[in-house]
Amino acid sequence: MHAKSIELLNRAVADELAAVHQYMFFHFHCDDQGFELLSSLYRRIAIEEMMHVERLAERILFLKGEVLMKAGHEVQPVTDVREMLAMAARMEQESARDYNLWANESGANADSATKKIFEGLVEDEERHLEQFDLETQNLSRFGDRYLALQSIERAKKSSMGPAA
Ligand SMILES: [Fe+2]
Ligand SMILES: [Fe+2]
Repeated sequence: MHAKSIELLNRAVADELAAVHQYMFFHFHCDDQGFELLSSLYRRIAIEEMMHVERLAERILFLKGEVLMKAGHEVQPVTDVREMLAMAARMEQESARDYNLWANESGANADSATKKIFEGLVEDEERHLEQFDLETQNLSRFGDRYLALQSIERAKKSSMGPAA
């Protein structure tokens, strides 16, 4: 009876796992290039996507399904910060679009709890999209100075010695 919901929830798990991997990859590379603010933004959003996996998994188990922990796509080796932001924004747009459709589909299948989960995820993904768009705007307004500032912040911190 809940086979369709379980399938949709597992597709969402795959999407979220791919996002966790991709954003952690971006996090490492921004950190490596010294871009403190972007590095911590990717880390924070990766953790939120991980919590989405948890929310979906709980619902799958409640419906007596199994959680298929398989990422929806491989990590793309993008290391240019502007390309990272463009890719992240694209991923969020696609997730929000899919989750909207799947919320409607779950509603049509009389599974309103699954519908609510998808609706909650849409709100989060739209917020993520807004954050990535804001960073893209900052980069186009302030250019490389914006990145330089992040490196300077980082240098200041490391000159103060190891964090307590
Ligand atoms: Fe998510
Ligand atoms: Fe997201």
